[in-house]
Amino acid sequence: MRNHRIAVVPGDGIGPEVIDASLEVLAAAESAFGFSTRLTRIEAGARHYLRTGELWTAELEEQLRGHDAVLFGAMGDPAVKPGILERGFILAMRKAFQQAVNLRPVKLYEGVATPIAGLTPERCDLVIVRENTEGAYVGRGSTVHAGTPHAVAVQESVNTRPGIERVVEYSFRLAQQRRKKLTLCHKKNILIEAGNLWQDTVDEVGARYPDVEVDYVHVDAMCFHLPVAPERFDVVVTDNLFGDIITDLGAVIQGGMGVAASANLNLDGSAPSMFEAIHGSAPDIAGRGWANPVGAVLSTAMCLASLGEREAALAIEAAAVQVLAALPELSGPGMGLDTAGVGKEIASLVGAGLPQVAGRSVMEDLAGTSGKHGAGVSTPGKSA
Ligand SMILES: NC(=O)c1ccc[n+]([C@@H]2O[C@H](COP(=O)([O-])OP(=O)(O)OC[C@H]3O[C@@H](n4cnc5c(N)ncnc54)[C@H](O)[C@@H]3O)[C@@H](O)[C@H]2O)c1
Repeated sequence: MRNHRIAVVPGDGIGPEVIDASLEVLAAAESAFGFSTRLTRIEAGARHYLRTGELWTAELEEQLRGHDAVLFGAMGDPAVKPGILERGFILAMRKAFQQAVNLRPVKLYEGVATPIAGLTPERCDLVIVRENTEGAYVGRGSTVHAGTPHAVAVQESVNTRPGIERVVEYSFRLAQQRRKKLTLCHKKNILIEAGNLWQDTVDEVGARYPDVEVDYVHVDAMCFHLPVAPERFDVVVTDNLFGDIITDLGAVIQGGMGVAASANLNLDGSAPSMFEAIHGSAPDIAGRGWANPVGAVLSTAMCLASLGEREAALAIEAAAVQVLAALPELSGPGMGLDTAGVGKEIASLVGAGLPQVAGRSVMEDLAGTSGKHGAGVSTPGKSA
């Protein structure tokens, strides 16, 4: 029987709630599709940090390296200064495991309410490839005269040719599998140095993919194109910070923070990839059962797709969409079911043989036959 070693990091706030719901769905997929998982639950996050002072440690890194993938809930807690957990754990993992690509689908599913009047699923089916280890997220900078009226803060954005090239290459391959259109999103009219390096890289790599149409959109313009004309985009490749921001906008268009999924992909098989909903720990609703777990469930499906469990991934997606479409509201007390209840409903439908969702599925992209998460190398964390 196929077995996958998966590390599970529930984290803070609603993280453990959406992870528990996802694990219920995962268990249903295992029985329906004949594979098994060995799960290692990792205690990390605010409570652990406040008790032990530990964030990302060498021991933990070593332990996680022995897994095929990581499922992640969320991190961040009002009791810990902003940035400590996020930078000290999430960014540390992305960097240590060279999770170069943050893949974020923006797909409006049939029957799911969107705040954009008149938007239809056929018009909203794209993926955003966010560079995941560089840019403003390298954590470099300094503050001089901190705490005085003369404080000077410098925050650096680091852009390397190899770092850009690997995500651009991935994006072109992905575009080839999809509608053959790639858009670079940046701010090259103002951030000239970084913008030119991104554009030059897209031009040079693009020469090897003559069948892919290439386009450019400034990040501010993206904020009006994305809600009103998402059909303009197929694969969008962008810098770490811009990607963080525009994918929250993408999440809103597709039904809210609770439904958007993501994959942090290691592209060379040297370390596990990590899968997480794009939302944070949502302390405002934690503990109330109001969190929608679908983003986490779809991230779990993305994990399975990248591990080669294509049918299970597609079945989870179909089940999640059926449940989502029946919810009176997509989050909060009006959802009709609590977080665990949504997970149970999805789990009950995973083996039901529902038809695959309409349009292009990111599960197919990740499980694509050409390797590299559907666009290039071996299965993450599995030594070939
Ligand atoms: N990868 C991560 O773990 C990650 C990502 C983003 C933010 N954070 C951290 O999370 C904490 C909270 O950040 P924030 O409030 O800016 O962002 P957030 O994503 O946690 O919440 C934003 C809003 O969306 C709602 N929301 C989020 N997820 C939801 C879900 N599954 N169902 C229903 N509603 C949902 C929240 O209630 C809140 O109103 C901060 O500490 C932040 O640094 C962590």
